[in-house]
Amino acid sequence: MRKQIAAANWKMNLTYAQGEQLVNDLLSQSSVPESNREVVLGVPFPYLSMVAQKIKGHHGYSVAAQNCSQHKAGAYTGETSAEMLTSIGVQYVILGHSERREYFSESNQLLADKLNIALSYGLTPIFCCGEPLSIREAETQNSFVETQLRESLFHLSAEELQKLVIAYEPIWAIGTGKTATADQAQDMHAHLRSVLAAQYGAEVANRISILYGGSVKGSNAAEIFSKPDVDGGLVGGASLKADEFIQVINGLK
Ligand code: PGA
Repeated sequence: MRKQIAAANWKMNLTYAQGEQLVNDLLSQSSVPESNREVVLGVPFPYLSMVAQKIKGHHGYSVAAQNCSQHKAGAYTGETSAEMLTSIGVQYVILGHSERREYFSESNQLLADKLNIALSYGLTPIFCCGEPLSIREAETQNSFVETQLRESLFHLSAEELQKLVIAYEPIWAIGTGKTATADQAQDMHAHLRSVLAAQYGAEVANRISILYGGSVKGSNAAEIFSKPDVDGGLVGGASLKADEFIQVINGLK
């Protein structure tokens, strides 16, 4: 069975003390994830080391950065490299979140570069894709998202591709309280898997965890995650409260 993942995306929220408290609560109140389940905590850069330390020895927990530079190293003031992240024990990096695409002009090509550097340092990218409302209303979401995959991923070898996690996050569902229905998520996830299968073969496509993101919360997680091609979620708002996020974790297959 593919790995089932509950990934938190704290975005730019919480103070250090609040973040520490949240991780303490999660670790003390959640049960140990079963072997095919993983909890990934996507936290702000200044908290990565703290979270990496706290989860040490807790099976099934990992830490993720929310971005990394496309450059290896050098004079890029304010940037954080993939190598820096691995050097402090970070395992995952969220790349291509729609907020970064929109507010920081991240293109499919730039994301291809970021994926390359993340993979070369052994980070597991959580690659985000998803369409805006106008595209959904025009019913062209399948080709829109296919282009995102094609332009950012298709230069990778099959071996590299299998190291990725993909997150489908329809932009109209992020932070809006308007979740895609479980069937809408399943339809898109099956489409994404078929796009990957056409390029890399069904065996490779079947190994890749595809997460759904967009207003996932404790009360809807289990239904969405129950769909055959939905392998967990990338969770923003609901990951900021321990009890709510624990319900999301418990909703994993
Ligand atoms: P949300 O955000 O759960 O608050 O909708 C999800 C995300 O942006 O990853």
